[in-house]
Amino acid sequence: MGVFEAIGAGTHEEVLFGNDPVSGLKTIIAIHSTALGPALGGTRFFAYRHEDDALADVLRLSRAMSLKASAAGLDLGGGKAVIIGDPRAIKSERLLRAYGRVVDSLGGRYITAEDVGTTADDMEIISRETSWVTGVPEADGGSGDPSPATARGVLAAMHAVAERVFGSDDLSGRTVAVQGVGKVGANLVERLTKAGARTVVTDVDEDRLDEVRRAHGSEVVDVDGIFDVECDILAPCAMGGAITAVTIPRLRCRAIVGAANNQLASGRDAIALRERGIVYAPDFVVNAGGVINVSEEIGGYDWKRAATAIDRIHETINAVLETADGEGITPHEAAVRLAESRIADIGELRRWRRSQGSQR
Ligand code: NAI
Repeated sequence: MGVFEAIGAGTHEEVLFGNDPVSGLKTIIAIHSTALGPALGGTRFFAYRHEDDALADVLRLSRAMSLKASAAGLDLGGGKAVIIGDPRAIKSERLLRAYGRVVDSLGGRYITAEDVGTTADDMEIISRETSWVTGVPEADGGSGDPSPATARGVLAAMHAVAERVFGSDDLSGRTVAVQGVGKVGANLVERLTKAGARTVVTDVDEDRLDEVRRAHGSEVVDVDGIFDVECDILAPCAMGGAITAVTIPRLRCRAIVGAANNQLASGRDAIALRERGIVYAPDFVVNAGGVINVSEEIGGYDWKRAATAIDRIHETINAVLETADGEGITPHEAAVRLAESRIADIGELRRWRRSQGSQR
């Protein structure tokens, strides 16, 4: 394979490799598209087994960010960064600041945020070397942890799906099975309880599970049992790939609406769900609350404005499900079409250049 093929030249605008031997920083930043605006996406700090795996991950994740930002109606492109290594072993001030300088060298074409293995405090350190960073702590004028915003968006999506599937967006009396009660899942359970829904939860972390059960009276099932729960909505909020050819035949829900990225193990699963009459709300539309929230930091953070933008996920899900029904395609395909057509349409409009000095 040639080097350009290896770095996704057919699909991606730019891939940058950054290296600081002193701190051990090895980073790859992938810019998938800046057609709609600067490429926003988090920094994943992870002990990849091979450098090739890190490259494949950053290419895949940056494309997903383009779709997510576009479907959310943001004037942002898609990008992502990975730092190779175990964050517990090698994360240091020097490494994060060296990374900040790599981000800065892109002059705003890429804006970073937190992701797996990085925190709001890390973003604060990175911000000492570059202004192209979001998700810094609230105390430093940022938007802080994006998880409550993500959970708010998942709930908005659930209301939209409920309206379509059950004829009312009221979630009271509905049963929602939540897989994974981490930062997003636990916050979602709290919101669902307030909305009058009954929740059934699972997690590999017993302590988290116990906390949620005690705080919200959720019913607890074992990790594998979540796929057999008779419920109205299943909410995958753990790792990706929960919905597979093996789990789909077991499901006893009417709809799937959750926060996890890449919920479907393969493209065929979207079709299998439709054949079973289960409405699948596309993950990258449902879980856009976090990115919508951090994007508000770019022009000066305001929670009320962010919340209004997050609640629009309700309308986006409506549009996606309507397109899917109207055109006889899966909601996943409808969402990809919606996102790609906006990138093509609005991106093309931007051929009119602004004056020199414009950031966009
Ligand atoms: P987290 O790490 O706080 O929570 C994940 C939870 O899932 C943990 O409690 C973990 O113990 C549990 N878990 C792991 N494997 C499991 C399994 N097989 N069965 C049951 N539980 C399992 O992560 P967070 O931030 O809550 O994110 C959840 C998902 O949502 C992830 O897939 C993430 O990529 C996605 N997401 C999160 C966003 C955010 O704002 N935090 C934004 C967009 C997507």
